[in-house]
Amino acid sequence: MILITRREHFSAAHRLFRDNWDDQKNLDTFGNCSNPNWHGHNYNLFVTVKGEINPETGFVVNIKLLSKIIKENIISKIDHRNINIDVDFMKGKLASTENLAIGIWDQLEPLIKVLDIELHCIKLMETENNYIEYYGNK
Ligand code: NI
Repeated sequence: MILITRREHFSAAHRLFRDNWDDQKNLDTFGNCSNPNWHGHNYNLFVTVKGEINPETGFVVNIKLLSKIIKENIISKIDHRNINIDVDFMKGKLASTENLAIGIWDQLEPLIKVLDIELHCIKLMETENNYIEYYGNK
């Protein structure tokens, strides 16, 4: 078993808020991420998969294929979009990095499984200092 990671990048807007809270409580809880007029982050997404090496190719997975799957199913839906409004798999969810990492996992996991490899980790960096790692519902 060996692990391989592909990094992708996207920029997106969001707002962390609860509409049943007033602006002050949202600000106290979510800080600048509750700014009513949105703001953006430059996200780095690390998708780690694991499997056995194919003796014919020496690869666990063709990294170009993995990149294509991530771009078609995640990046194309989220890059330069508003996570709260535009992203189908985030509808009705609070647009936190935690929920976004889980949403990305749920999108990618079935697409990776059919390649005879396993999704191991979604690591999502919202800033240089803050990141989430999700290993599935374990
Ligand atoms: Ni934010």
